[in-house]
Amino acid sequence: MAGWHDRADARLVADAMEGFRRLHHRAATVAVRAPGRVNLIGDHTDYTGGFVLPMAIQFQTIVAAGRRSAPGMSVFANAYQAGAKLPPEQVDPLSLPHWARYVYGVREVLRSRGVAMPDADLYIVGDVPLGAGLASSASLEVACGLAMVTLAEAEMPPIELASACRRAENEYAGSPCGIMDQAISACGQAGCALRIDCRDLSLHPVPLRLPETRFVVVDTGVRHSIAAGEYARRRSECESALAALRDADPELVSFRDVDEAVWERLQARLGGVERRRARHIVTENRRVIEACGALHRGDAAAFGFAMFASHASLRDDFEVSCEELDAVVDTARATSGVLGARMTGGGFGGCAIVLLERECLSAFSATIQSRCTRRFAQPFGITPVTAEDGATVIYKA
Ligand code: GLA
Repeated sequence: MAGWHDRADARLVADAMEGFRRLHHRAATVAVRAPGRVNLIGDHTDYTGGFVLPMAIQFQTIVAAGRRSAPGMSVFANAYQAGAKLPPEQVDPLSLPHWARYVYGVREVLRSRGVAMPDADLYIVGDVPLGAGLASSASLEVACGLAMVTLAEAEMPPIELASACRRAENEYAGSPCGIMDQAISACGQAGCALRIDCRDLSLHPVPLRLPETRFVVVDTGVRHSIAAGEYARRRSECESALAALRDADPELVSFRDVDEAVWERLQARLGGVERRRARHIVTENRRVIEACGALHRGDAAAFGFAMFASHASLRDDFEVSCEELDAVVDTARATSGVLGARMTGGGFGGCAIVLLERECLSAFSATIQSRCTRRFAQPFGITPVTAEDGATVIYKA
């Protein structure tokens, strides 16, 4: 169909448009897409105002939408084969199905930011694996948000849409996430990773020029929810560690102001757990900068080295890995042609990201199947990923 963005997956878009038509007996007037993401390096740094380096990937959420005459919104989520009604007035989010709280939250936050929200029907399809650490929630929020803004004929810069979606997730879905996932889903650029400065929200595209290599996502199949307590606990441990460092040196604004000399001087102020959490953040911010330098130089080995170091830090200092993720990274390290590997995202399950020489992909897949799949008696999915554009309007009547 003319005018559709050529990167959108034609089958998913057709599913969304046809699903909308079947349910509502009329055609959708808007279709949008918003991708999931994989974070190449820089985890658990976003909510302390640090650096992250994600890229948007080919998995995405598609929303087909149209204005309607009845008041309020109806939302249908293909993944759950379920619909929800969002009345025009405010409701208790807990009265809604869990997935619909994200959509409701986005509507409420956009409204509070002045978007004249139309009454509308939304039909959602997607192929971002749910709860796998590839930002399925952010892609849902950003896709719904972009559909609403487009129906309202409003203008909103992508990073503002991202921050509205993050607020929706924090305040309406009860998940204390940072800005990374929404920012990359809204602002990603094909062919690039995006270095995001989570303090001032500036975006720095870094072209992925690592010839003869591939990034591959390995899904452990272990599912998690960052709404669960561990993520929030890490956040508060980081806050109290920073407060202790600032007691000693009031000039410090955030962990990224802590260079090696400052760390050596101040680390003794922190107790065991706080020291390890802070050391992860301080060193991870540096690794993001080093990894960006490696990308600029086209130095795949140096990039991979930073990935392995990041994993060790997330496993030992931040304690957000799990046996399955460690097994993938250990297997990667022992496979010739693999340059780097690490868990990606919030952790406690989900996916690892692996950088390998192109011709080693099938040998690596075979090794994962024989070691990890057999050991844990569950399939480990392996998917090469490419850097895609952030959210786009793909159809508007
Ligand atoms: C989740 C959160 C992000 C970020 C990562 C860890 O994906 O949504 O904000 O904190 O965990 O880097």
